[in-house]
Amino acid sequence: MTGERSKRVCPVRHTRSLDNVFRRWIHNPRKLLKEYVKEGMIVLDIGCGSGLYSVEMAKMVGERGMVIAADLQEGMLQKLKKKIQETKIEKRIILHRCEKDRMGITEKIDFALAFYMVHEVPNQEKFFKEMRSILKPDGKFLIIEPKFHVSKEAFEETIKRAITIGFKPSEKPKVLLSRAMVLRR
Ligand SMILES: C[S@@+](CC[C@H](N)C(=O)[O-])C[C@H]1O[C@@H](n2cnc3c(N)ncnc32)[C@H](O)[C@@H]1O
Repeated sequence: MTGERSKRVCPVRHTRSLDNVFRRWIHNPRKLLKEYVKEGMIVLDIGCGSGLYSVEMAKMVGERGMVIAADLQEGMLQKLKKKIQETKIEKRIILHRCEKDRMGITEKIDFALAFYMVHEVPNQEKFFKEMRSILKPDGKFLIIEPKFHVSKEAFEETIKRAITIGFKPSEKPKVLLSRAMVLRR
C-alpha cells in the first residue's frame, strides 16, 4: 500500500495484534535484536506501541542501560506503563510522548528501533534528520516495515530518503513478512 492510507496511525485498539503469542514467535524480540542491543546501552523504541520490544530491550540493556519508549499516542504509552508497573524494569524505561512531526528527544542514542512505524510518519525527511541528530557517531538504526503495507518500491524510496540525509545502509536482516534495513549514522 502506498500514499495516505499507509500513513494512518495504528489505533490503540489494535494492540492485541502487536503483542500476542504468534507475534512473539514470528518476530521474537531477542532473536531479532541480540546483534544490536547490548548491556549498558541507551536505546530508543520509536513508535513503541504497547511496548513488546521496549520491554525486551529493557531486559537486554540491564541495570546500567535505558530504553526510551516513544510514541505519538498517549493510549499506547499507558498500555506500556501498565505492563511494566511494579516490575524490575520499570525504572529502565522512560516513556516519551512524540509530536506527529517531531520526536523531541535530546538523549544520545546507541541503537534505535522503528518497527512497523516509519510508513506512518508524514514527513520522513524531517524524521530521519532528527533521528540522525540524536544517534551517537557509531549508532545504528533498524527499520522494519510490513510487507502488507509497504511495497518494495516504497521501502526503497524510504531508504533512499535516509541515505540523502546522510545515513549509510548496512545489513538487511531477514524478518518474516517484513522488509528490514540497518542504517549506520
Ligand atoms: C503499527 S504500530 C507498531 C508498534 C510497535 N513498534 C510494534 O512493532 O509492536 C506503529 C506505532 O507507531 C506510532 N507512531 C506513528 N507515527 C508516529 C510518529 N510520527 N512519532 C511517534 N510514533 C508514531 C503509532 O502511534 C503506533 O503506536
